[in-house]
Amino acid sequence: MLQAIQNMRLFILDHHDALMPYISRINSTNTKTYASRTILFLQDDGTLKPLAIELSLPHPQGEQHGAVSKVFTPAQEGVSASVWQLAKAYAAVNDSGYHQLVSHWLYTHAVIEPFIITTNRQLSILHPIHKLLKPHFRDTMHINALARHTLINAGGVLEKTVFPGKFALEMSSVIYKSWVFTEQALPADLLKRGMAVPDSSCRHGLRLVIEDYPFAVDGIEIWDAIETWVTEYCNFYYTSNDMVEDDSELQSWWKEVRNEGHGDLKDRHWWPEMKTKEELIQSCTIIIWLASAFHAAVNFGQYPFAGYLPNRPTVSRRFMPEPGTPEYEELKSDPDLAFLKTITAQFQTLLGVSLIEVLSRHSTEEVYLGQCENPEWTLDAEPLAAFERFRQKLLEIESNIIERNKDKRLKNRNGPVKMPYTLLFPNTSDYSREGGLTGKGIPNSISI
Ligand SMILES: [Fe+2]
Repeated sequence: MLQAIQNMRLFILDHHDALMPYISRINSTNTKTYASRTILFLQDDGTLKPLAIELSLPHPQGEQHGAVSKVFTPAQEGVSASVWQLAKAYAAVNDSGYHQLVSHWLYTHAVIEPFIITTNRQLSILHPIHKLLKPHFRDTMHINALARHTLINAGGVLEKTVFPGKFALEMSSVIYKSWVFTEQALPADLLKRGMAVPDSSCRHGLRLVIEDYPFAVDGIEIWDAIETWVTEYCNFYYTSNDMVEDDSELQSWWKEVRNEGHGDLKDRHWWPEMKTKEELIQSCTIIIWLASAFHAAVNFGQYPFAGYLPNRPTVSRRFMPEPGTPEYEELKSDPDLAFLKTITAQFQTLLGVSLIEVLSRHSTEEVYLGQCENPEWTLDAEPLAAFERFRQKLLEIESNIIERNKDKRLKNRNGPVKMPYTLLFPNTSDYSREGGLTGKGIPNSISI
């Protein structure tokens, strides 16, 4: 075990701390669940294998007594195999709820909205940063307004389909208090999550701990392309740090983002001060990354990867059966029935699958990263040339992704079901406007 840790072979999927404060309240509803931690081992073939799942409940005598935890390990036969199957289902329930409420809703749709409102309020439509960001804000206010109407509202589809039920949006809002804008830069995110280590000999100063990590490998290429484009664009309009600091519109914009848009977090120390070109470039790169590639990675795979609920349940309705109970006997005699009685109920399943099917569809009006809706957006030659270089780079990344998906050594790119990883395939080359459930393509903006 120590050797595995030293060799950076152990990974944790940790939902314990985020969920624990809510477990008692969540379990007072029809949901019956745990806060989970899953330990995974990086095998020689580059794939991860779960070694143990810890399921925790709050101590009945109160928080100060800690948690009541049980650890489950893999088993292949008999009732132990059914227990392991259930343990994996509880971990998947945690993960699906966290994914929808935090990775998807909070870290893309919700956090981007203040930037959109403030850009419209503080930057003239002729301002270069307005022009740079505008395509990445195209569809988001509309989809967020729809979401408020039917998805994230009280009693709405999200509360009905994710395990935290009526506490879902409160949980998401509380987790927002720990949001750190600068940590959403892909390199910083990978380092923070321990999926990369600092290495000055590598691009961006980091080396991936799991070499075949498709989101990170494709993501770094996309991040790099966006960063280069934003750098070249900003360098044309801002030739010195003073120009950033003396740009009163830009300063008002950033002040409002921090003090009003993200006002709950205005006193956090991590806000870039927006005094240098570097801060401007980094901030715009993060905004564009979140609105385009990061959203695509967490949004459009929902139906392809999670559309079969026995494999990716969203709710659990009863606890792990204890030996000596009728539920345990049922698990022995009819494990499939016991499993189905535990995971998402039929109506919630239908509603949840319908939702993720809709969310995973590309619109027929999608504009992908590197495409341009309005060719006359600027007449400045250098930004136009830089944008063309950006487009060419994205086309090159498309070929790289196709090649990597053909490489049999990269087992995580296709998985056991042989479905290639294409969520960060930019689709810059696609002008068909066919849309649909393609499982690929990075729209410029958060469009659904
Ligand atoms: Fe979305």
